[in-house]
Amino acid sequence: MANLIILILALVFWGFTSAYSLPFVVFHGIGDKCTNSGLKSFTNLLSKWSGSKGHCIEIGNGAGDSWFMPFTKQTEIACEQVKNISALSHGYNIVGFSQGNILGRAVIEFCEGAPKVNNFVSLGGPHAGIASIPFCGSGGFCILVDYLIKLGVYSKYVQEHLAPAGYIKIPTGINQYMKGCKFLPQLNNEYKDHKNAVYTKRFASLQNLVLIMFEDDKVLVPKETSWFGYFSDGSRDKVLPAQETTLYQEDWIGLRSLDEAGRVQYINVSGGHLEISNIDIKKYIVPYLERSASRYRLSI
Ligand SMILES: *[C@@H]1O[C@H](CO)[C@@H](O)[C@H](O)[C@H]1NC(C)=O
Ligand SMILES: *[C@@H]1O[C@H](CO)[C@@H](O)[C@H](O)[C@H]1NC(C)=O
Repeated sequence: MANLIILILALVFWGFTSAYSLPFVVFHGIGDKCTNSGLKSFTNLLSKWSGSKGHCIEIGNGAGDSWFMPFTKQTEIACEQVKNISALSHGYNIVGFSQGNILGRAVIEFCEGAPKVNNFVSLGGPHAGIASIPFCGSGGFCILVDYLIKLGVYSKYVQEHLAPAGYIKIPTGINQYMKGCKFLPQLNNEYKDHKNAVYTKRFASLQNLVLIMFEDDKVLVPKETSWFGYFSDGSRDKVLPAQETTLYQEDWIGLRSLDEAGRVQYINVSGGHLEISNIDIKKYIVPYLERSASRYRLSI
């Protein structure tokens, strides 16, 4: 009899803890893909250290589509995917790399009927926009990228054919940005007369938002965009910290609410774009993917 009670208790406890071990999803950066060995081993490492299962979400063919598929389309696909993976149905955490953070946040804000996101760990995300195109190089891709940019980043054609055009915010061209840019103004709830309260509510419902900035980031201009900081309108050198932007002060997406509730971690790590050390991974990512991090939800 006593044995039976212990067995039942053990099963209940096991059910309780395993039910709250949330899986995580990875949204990769531009030009990367889920089958690349670097990304695979990173996801495996996070799984191993956190004890939670990781899923890499792929959009179309990966690398090419990450450059050339507009974010409205990428978001639709990502939204379908997170709803389709049954392991995520009790909630999950997100780890975003660079551009993947735009997608991760779009899924949180825009995806109707999706499972709940608990923690969002963002590594080098261009959250407030970038003032110039990410470094590309000189391959075949980049010839096309350069050609598209020369056509005008806010033209309809480029907006429909170059993903980063969806989050390029030229600080000296704010009017053109507000008129022509098809993604970031909506994601950041920037339109003057139609703020969407649902986006705010969804983003503000995160348990933890971890914003990792790379001290020597040369890809994101300015690097403070990782913390929602950005150039002051009209300026190419004065960077406002997040707290001094209107997005924060008027709480357009719930960042201020989250911050005032003590749920935002602004992390500054050494290294260039996405160059994170194992020590920092263990300190700033793994704790938000572990069981204890998700169980925390029960106590509040
Ligand atoms: C949904 O999942 C099934 C199998 O698990 C797969 O065959 C299908 O392609 C998925 N659909 C999407 C949109 O990812
Ligand atoms: C980030 O850390 C470095 C030192 O490690 C420091 O010099 C720099 O001011 C920090 N940046 C911010 C915004 O805290």
